[in-house]
Amino acid sequence: MKVFHIVGARPNFMKVAPVLSALKVYPHVEQVLVHTGQHYDPNMSDVFFQQLGIPAPDVNLAVGSGSHAKQTAEIMTRFEPVVVEANPDLVLVYGDVNSTVATALVCAKLGIRVAHVEAGLRSFDRSMPEEINRLMTDQLADALYTPSEDGDANLLKEGISPHKIFRVGNVMIDSLVRLLPLAERQGRNGLPDRYALVTLHRPSNVDDSAALKSVLESLLAVNRDVAVVFPTHPRTRQRISEFGLKTDQLRLLDPLPYVDFLGLQSRAQVVITDSGGIQEETTYLGVPCLTLRENTERPITVTLGTNVLVGRDPEKLRAELSSILAGKQKKGTIPPLWDGHTGERIAAIVAA
Ligand code: UD1
Repeated sequence: MKVFHIVGARPNFMKVAPVLSALKVYPHVEQVLVHTGQHYDPNMSDVFFQQLGIPAPDVNLAVGSGSHAKQTAEIMTRFEPVVVEANPDLVLVYGDVNSTVATALVCAKLGIRVAHVEAGLRSFDRSMPEEINRLMTDQLADALYTPSEDGDANLLKEGISPHKIFRVGNVMIDSLVRLLPLAERQGRNGLPDRYALVTLHRPSNVDDSAALKSVLESLLAVNRDVAVVFPTHPRTRQRISEFGLKTDQLRLLDPLPYVDFLGLQSRAQVVITDSGGIQEETTYLGVPCLTLRENTERPITVTLGTNVLVGRDPEKLRAELSSILAGKQKKGTIPPLWDGHTGERIAAIVAA
């Protein structure tokens, strides 16, 4: 049996690692790793492969950046001959990035089976490119592996057959569980004892100069109460310099490797983010998370976890931050099946 795994962007890497490793115990499964090259900077890609123990990709499509149409089309054009020639029995796609939907569409047209890892998440906000990617990928996939109950419910409402849906849990948490002990041994690297860890890269927050200016002003206000440590996505760094915005005393760092970032998250007083995956990681770690978005495709992080949606309201951010700094943070629990064994559950289904 031949299985393809598709990765392209940073948040895919921590999801593929546990599945690759769990499938190794099935000798009849031959695995082929395809990197689309959506993310290509060494600190957005190579270093994640090293730390997560992912083997070098068998195929690298090296598509790089571009508009959504161009990037998606380029992935499709370069992937088609590769998948036609290898003719895998199953293609596993991960998450909600352009690489996910592009390759799922190619396979669906060719009649090659596709399974979607992290299926069923919905923000119900179609202005987010990832929401379009999630909706399309789930309609195209032959098997849907969901992280939580809300995922199953969303898929059933969209008319997906229950026979295709498998609730397996959150695969990214497998990587976290495995590498947390190493992350906790990391030194402080000159950072203060107390800090707010910030990440920001969503187009709605960073592509518009007024929106980005307002978020940075809120962060400068946060920085007066607790030091802001801000590993900066290349997209965000580009926009800050393009718009000529001030970041003054904020500690801007380059994007960090997985283990280093996990260590920083586990020791942070609070995490302020617009990422999807970080809402989940903070929930697992029990670290307060303030999400700079109006909605989330991961509602379980709000209902069960430590996440609070503050949107772009500076008042709400300030109010939530001061309760956290006063020790009155929301107490969360870890959602069911976020137990470090999701990769094994996926592998068992795939191998069978
Ligand atoms: C992509 C995903 C997003 C995910 C994010 C994590 C889509 C639609 N979006 O967004 O869901 O949360 O990855 O990082 O797939 N760039 C570099 N070096 C790189 C990669 C990107 O400089 O290695 C710059 C390029 O200028 C590029 C921009 O960042 O134009 C955006 O990259 P892109 O892959 O298009 O989207 P992300 O914002 O990273």
